[in-house]
Amino acid sequence: MTTEPRGADDPWEPQGADDPWIATVLTLFPEVFPGPLGISLAGKALERGVWALEALDIRDFTSDKHRSVDDTPFGGGAGMVMRPDVVDRALGSVAERPGPVIYLSPRGRVLDQEMARALARQPGLTLLCGRYEGIDERVLEARGIAEVSIGDFVLSGGEVAAMALLDAVVRLLPGVMGNAASGTDESFERGLLEYPQYTRPAEWQGRAVPEVLQSGHHERIRRWRREQAEKITRARRPDLWARHVAKDERNEHDQATKDGES
Ligand code: ADE
Repeated sequence: MTTEPRGADDPWEPQGADDPWIATVLTLFPEVFPGPLGISLAGKALERGVWALEALDIRDFTSDKHRSVDDTPFGGGAGMVMRPDVVDRALGSVAERPGPVIYLSPRGRVLDQEMARALARQPGLTLLCGRYEGIDERVLEARGIAEVSIGDFVLSGGEVAAMALLDAVVRLLPGVMGNAASGTDESFERGLLEYPQYTRPAEWQGRAVPEVLQSGHHERIRRWRREQAEKITRARRPDLWARHVAKDERNEHDQATKDGES
């Protein structure tokens, strides 16, 4: 795969409002991409050119005959560390690509829906995937690279994390989600977990779908869903619930201040 800009018709060169959102992944396992990003909504959007994905092999940026990307850690300890010179050349080759560079790492800021929304507003992203014990700190420092984690657990490498991050971001790009409303009602979009969903049959193994959902009464349905979302969030995620309540109180306070001014 080429890594050089390819001129005016180059899909990797930002050109205007209709340009694809550009994802670049630096990895030792480029063959695993697009993987699950090649199916369903993200896959169709990839085919339609809403976004573009290129996975580059970090090993292509080695300079020795053994193509070595890693070495033993200074100070001892288990495992291997990815060399700064190799990673730096890989990063240098994509320096002109649009958007921030993110290193997937359990030490990073934890990905949430707000971060996904912010990243979807960027023109693209370059994702650096580590393996082994990680990447030599100096190259991360020298290039001022942001670190993002997908949760407080350790994966074997950044690839699965990069896919999770890309999935969360790409589905938010304009024109990717079929039914635009399905984005605003889902978990986290309003700081609440999603209400329960049901489909046919109306009764299954003796369990009936809540009557209100079959009533056709839109206002009652909206209220029921809201109550359910609040109940589930309070029970399962007290952290989210506390933030939600604080935000509601802030909004009420702001509204009261505005009303007082007018
Ligand atoms: N690499 C290894 N573990 C990770 C995590 N939790 N998030 C992001 N990248 C990782």
